[in-house]
Amino acid sequence: MNKYMRNTVFVLLCFAAAAVMLPNAFGEEPAKKPDGKALFEQKCLKCHKNTKFKDLASDRQGWVLTLNRMQRGTCPINDAELEVLADYLTKVYGE
Ligand code: HEC
Repeated sequence: MNKYMRNTVFVLLCFAAAAVMLPNAFGEEPAKKPDGKALFEQKCLKCHKNTKFKDLASDRQGWVLTLNRMQRGTCPINDAELEVLADYLTKVYGE
């Protein structure tokens, strides 16, 4: 490989690296984990009052069980949302 070729390859590699990094720096953020608080307000406070949860302080296991029941019943959340909500509820309304 002569010097000219090497420079060309180097420049191409720089472009490739920039192309990979730029969208993360300036573009859409990669699929963000749903926000626990927003989910909670959007999904749960539709049917429940905030105060209900203060009285029900529970550990993560307890919240997962409750969320499972809501999920089977009337609350449309998927499993990923359930996990996020369990984390949120444990943090805010943990024991
Ligand atoms: C469409 C209405 C609806 C939505 C949305 C809903 N719930 Fe419920 N929830 C109910 C009803 C009805 C009950 C009472 C019957 C029961 O316990 O299954 C209840 C009961 C509960 C209870 C009572 C305690 C217990 O263990 O039974 C908790 C805690 C609870 N929900 C938490 C949640 C959480 C957290 C969410 C959000 C993921 C949620 N709910 C979303 C209707 C809803």
